[in-house]
Amino acid sequence: MRRLHSFLRHMSNNPKSPQLIMWYTRPDAPLLEEVPECSVRSYSPGDEEQWLALLQANGQLGAWDRARLDAVLGETHLQYFVECRGCLAACTGINDRERDGEPCWEIGWVAVHPDFQGRGLGTLITGAALARAVELGRRPIYLLTDDFRVPALRCYLKLGFVPGDGHASYRERWRAIFAGLGEDYRALIPDFIAEER
Ligand SMILES: CC(C)(COP(=O)(O)OP(=O)(O)OC[C@H]1O[C@@H](n2cnc3c(N)ncnc32)[C@H](O)[C@@H]1OP(=O)(O)O)[C@@H](O)C(=O)NCCC(=O)NCCS
Repeated sequence: MRRLHSFLRHMSNNPKSPQLIMWYTRPDAPLLEEVPECSVRSYSPGDEEQWLALLQANGQLGAWDRARLDAVLGETHLQYFVECRGCLAACTGINDRERDGEPCWEIGWVAVHPDFQGRGLGTLITGAALARAVELGRRPIYLLTDDFRVPALRCYLKLGFVPGDGHASYRERWRAIFAGLGEDYRALIPDFIAEER
């Protein structure tokens, strides 16, 4: 399993391997489970300090300072948080993007504060943003992620995102990912990844 993990990390850091893309192609939003004492809300001016603290504590999306946060906020179409007992515990945004000349909604910068991880908040915040993107409509919805982000991959697959094809490396990389995810995720393996029989 350790060799598999280092292969996944290597693939993510390899310039010949672009980030993985996942698409949400269902017409309806997924059903979401509430998390006690936590609620989803959109951005309000003044959230920046706690939002920055969340991203810095998370530590897995690079280094964050106010300038980077403001840049992200400036290009975000809609920004969401999960608030738990007055703390910003999770964040993500919907970005207005273009892929191959087509307007799309991208779900970006999903993060949960380490003190709140493993309680369903990653699924809740991603699902809430996804529901809003479905409501906005008219555009394909995608996100970009990395081979080694196992909790994120689990969360996205369970919400109904499907691995996108489109790069020569994807089939082998997704096979390695699904090998690590085990039986629970076998039914979610798309055809382009399945082994030839
Ligand atoms: C990805 C992330 C947002 C998930 O948040 P979370 O609140 O812990 O996620 P959830 O509690 O909703 O769990 C989602 C899935 O991940 C699994 N999971 C949670 N923590 C895990 C861990 N440490 N190791 C393996 N799986 C884990 C859960 O069991 C669940 O899968 P399951 O439904 O098969 O049981 C969080 O781990 C995070 O902030 N990671 C760093 C930033 C990042 O990678 N963002 C994504 C960028 S694309």
